[in-house]
Amino acid sequence: MTQMITRAGQAISQITFGTMQFGGTADEKASRAMFDSARTAGINHFDTAVGYTNGASETILGRMIKDKRDDLFIASKLGYIGGTGRQNLADQFDRSRRQLNEDAVDLLYLHRFDPETPLAETFETLAQLQSNGLIRYIGVSNYAAWQVMKAQAVAKALGTKIDAIQPMYSLVKRQSEVEIIPMADDQDITVVPYSPLGGGLLTGKYAAGGTGRLTEDSRYKARYDQAWMHDTARELTALAAELGTSPATLAVAWVKTHPTAPRPIISARNATQLAPSLAAQGFDMSPELYAKITALSVAPALATDRLEEA
Ligand SMILES: NC(=O)c1ccc[n+]([C@@H]2O[C@H](COP(=O)([O-])OP(=O)(O)OC[C@H]3O[C@@H](n4cnc5c(N)ncnc54)[C@H](OP(=O)(O)O)[C@@H]3O)[C@@H](O)[C@H]2O)c1
Repeated sequence: MTQMITRAGQAISQITFGTMQFGGTADEKASRAMFDSARTAGINHFDTAVGYTNGASETILGRMIKDKRDDLFIASKLGYIGGTGRQNLADQFDRSRRQLNEDAVDLLYLHRFDPETPLAETFETLAQLQSNGLIRYIGVSNYAAWQVMKAQAVAKALGTKIDAIQPMYSLVKRQSEVEIIPMADDQDITVVPYSPLGGGLLTGKYAAGGTGRLTEDSRYKARYDQAWMHDTARELTALAAELGTSPATLAVAWVKTHPTAPRPIISARNATQLAPSLAAQGFDMSPELYAKITALSVAPALATDRLEEA
């Protein structure tokens, strides 16, 4: 697998830190404390998007990265709103660079698939940014595997390639196992999964009557509304108690232990919340524990219907 590297030539960390909460549930002081603990733990890969918290995520992150830019790997995303046409990408990339106060980013993602815009237009725009030295790697997020393969053919014809994919992936959202992760493995695409805690569900706090994103944001409530998901969170919490660790540590470690070694994006509203997710970095999960945790959730159906005969 080709490694993505910082400008200074360091491999990206296996754990990624997501800044979607900067300027939202995390004020600048809490954001700074999380950034510092992520750096202390050896994380060099930071994820943001042009639209997060109306631009505050990039603005706050931009202030933190100035003095060590070459040692860091900064990823942003465009096109969640307004599509991936040439003009929208150009406008949003300029906005992103102003917010970050940076000329270039290391990895630029398309935030979601845009069925209205020809892939040639989108990828010509990205290839141009890359040849102008304004982005180093190309990524896509929330794409289906067939959409990646279609886009990859276009990118390759332009002399470039998709380097990274950012799908949702956790113990309670396992669809990526069926097509996306095997496709990425085959295509030498780095997988950087988001929401490894299921938006906080896998901390176990909701079973204990706690509040947070799933009680405050209707999109997240809908995403994790199935009873079996809450059962999984309860069982993971009981297992963590048995093992003397935190369910969040197990949830993040489970994502990174997939045989293809994805690079989960962790995040939180403060450094105290972040600590158990960070602890996943040093958590070596045995094959037996990996299998036990995997069995706590519903496995997605296989990609073709005759595989049970194999
Ligand atoms: N590409 C995309 O479409 C996309 C979508 C979503 C996220 N992302 C990226 O992925 C990153 C991570 O996603 P995510 O924030 O959804 O990840 P997550 O790890 O599934 O959820 C993080 C949230 O869980 C709660 N939490 C975390 N630790 C906790 C603890 N110890 N105790 C109690 N609650 C805790 C906090 O929310 P509350 O306290 O508010 O409950 C925190 O903000 C984002 O920052 C962003 O960079 C990308």
